Amino acid sequence: MFASLAPPPSPRDQLERIQQLRQERRAVILAHYYQDDAIQDVADFIGDSLELARRAASTDAEVIVFCGVHFMAETAKILCPEKTVLLPDLEAGCSLADSCQPEAFAAFRAAHPNHYVVSYINCSAAIKAQSDLICTSSNAVQLVGQIPADRPVLFAPDKNLGRWVQQQLGRELSLWPGSCIVHETFSEQALLELKLAHPEAEVIAHPECEDLLLDHADFIGSTSKLLAHSLSSKAQAFIVLTEPGILHQMRKAAPGKSFHPVPGLDGCSCNACPYMRLNSLDKLESCLRELAPEIQLEEGLRQRALAPIQRMLDLSH
Ligand code: 13P
Ligand code: SF4
Repeated sequence: MFASLAPPPSPRDQLERIQQLRQERRAVILAHYYQDDAIQDVADFIGDSLELARRAASTDAEVIVFCGVHFMAETAKILCPEKTVLLPDLEAGCSLADSCQPEAFAAFRAAHPNHYVVSYINCSAAIKAQSDLICTSSNAVQLVGQIPADRPVLFAPDKNLGRWVQQQLGRELSLWPGSCIVHETFSEQALLELKLAHPEAEVIAHPECEDLLLDHADFIGSTSKLLAHSLSSKAQAFIVLTEPGILHQMRKAAPGKSFHPVPGLDGCSCNACPYMRLNSLDKLESCLRELAPEIQLEEGLRQRALAPIQRMLDLSH
């Protein structure tokens, strides 16, 4: 006689368990556009870095599950110290944030006295605490444009975003030499081949891309701005120069349009952010169940990092 085997758990069971845990924990699930499709589909809110920070600051949930990378979850904790902030995989970092370490950044600041320090939100709390103002890719031009023209500006850690802001404003910035491993690997040759294959397509790009690639773009903006543009534009086809997770929302919102991701230098068509993609439905379920891994932050550091984030939220519209 064979013992009867239990049927394997179905994906639907897992979604129901996540739904139940979310209610029991009074949790909200926030997800960045670069998350796997399945995580985007289960999230309460999907957005770019600025929208996610705003949503974290305004939620009345007791638990925030941040499906994104560490600096994003840490920003939520800085804004909401009384809440439990969970990151499904604590190893989900960011090459850009890693490229800017606190001691080296302090030395860079010392070498640029009297500079107003603007840091892209893709950095650690220790870098935020050394900054006058935080920006995201969606408000960088607007915020830097508000700094008095006679004040020199230091911009960190993304040199590509900084260079683009510089061009938009016609204003020189002192740039920290960091970059994103995803956005610096797009192949110009593959982009040109895609343009030949789809001559009617618009090229839309995230400002973290190298300027060589940005020179081909018809539209440049944050992930949310790229999504909004792809919906409002009359164009029916788009070549998308950013992490391909965003294509999920583009295809859902505009099923009649076509969206083409750009391969990397090695010819792969998988420019997925290796950090973002560490999160999974299994880890999401587990972190809701265990209330771990949790973001912890020393209170003095949190307060120093909060001031420039709050300034950003006050100044950006
Ligand atoms: P967004 O500001 O568009 O969310 O970009 C975040 C990011 O990490 C891009 O690589
Ligand atoms: Fe960091 Fe680049 Fe990943 Fe964005 S895509 S989280 S900048 S490594």
